[in-house]
Amino acid sequence: MSVQKIMVIGAGQMGSGIAQVCAQAGYSVILNDLKQEFVERGFGIINKNLSRQVSKEKMTAEEMEKVLGNLTPSTDLNDAKDVDLVIEAAVENMKIKSKIFNQLDSIAPAHAILASNTSSLPITEIAAVTNRPEKVIGMHFMNPVPVMKLVEIIRGLATTDEVYQTIEDITKTLNKVPVEVNDFPGFVSNRILMPMINEAIYTLYEGVATKEAIDEVMKLGMNHPMGPLTLADFIGLDTCLYIMETLHEGFGDTKYRPCPLLRKYVKAGWLGRKTGRGFYVYE
Ligand code: CAA
Repeated sequence: MSVQKIMVIGAGQMGSGIAQVCAQAGYSVILNDLKQEFVERGFGIINKNLSRQVSKEKMTAEEMEKVLGNLTPSTDLNDAKDVDLVIEAAVENMKIKSKIFNQLDSIAPAHAILASNTSSLPITEIAAVTNRPEKVIGMHFMNPVPVMKLVEIIRGLATTDEVYQTIEDITKTLNKVPVEVNDFPGFVSNRILMPMINEAIYTLYEGVATKEAIDEVMKLGMNHPMGPLTLADFIGLDTCLYIMETLHEGFGDTKYRPCPLLRKYVKAGWLGRKTGRGFYVYE
């Protein structure tokens, strides 16, 4: 199946990154969000990223203009009427995602594939609100999207081989590496990453070491680019808690119980980098 026109829903950190890499690969991309100001903020992130590449001479100003020319802003879901692929990167909330997929199902052309960038919600459940569950799939990008090579591709129960293959091929055109996984809570990435982060928070909570020491052990001892507490701040502590709760509920196993300190920080509004404070303070 040939894909030329893509709509990305959600112009936050993930959505804008996804729109950027799709536009850089030459696709015609609509970047959609609820409000004009959200879309503008997404375009601001893209502009900043591309300008940095130009200043580092990794891209010419003409190439940057071409990429920006591939992007169209939108605040109307009806703009999905002639797209070949939708990649949804809205908030991690099943009710909201279900509503979006239900609307998209009646707007997007019959051939269009509907993908979700969800980090842990069941693709099969999202697919079930549409009349095209065979064309619903997970396309889980990593943050920061322009840098990270992985796209975890999640097959829902009904996803066809043809749809999977199309998404795998598109992922490669984005200069990313696709990895196929089945639909289980947290998929592979967050089933492994989040319990590690949660355990790092328990280690802090129990006074085993300082936050700096915990991060240093994992950075220097395991060669992780960021320590787990720095990474938690980077991902967002609300997102970390949400994913732990999804694992806890999905498997019904106490080994996935979120650390009380994580809950406390989220309740305090200390959500990490995005709010200026998490385990660390950001200026
Ligand atoms: N957006 C775009 N580009 C960015 C960026 C951002 N937010 N942050 C850094 N970069 C680029 C820089 O411009 C630089 O590019 P060049 O090589 O072209 O010059 C490159 O990344 C390296 O950046 P820096 O030298 O400034 O910093 P660094 O070497 O410390 O790398 C990092 C920064 C790539 C973020 C690195 O620290 C890292 O890999 N951290 C771990 C990230 C990670 O684990 N992500 C997964 C999170 S989990 C997830 O996303 C899934 C989920 O569901 C929760």
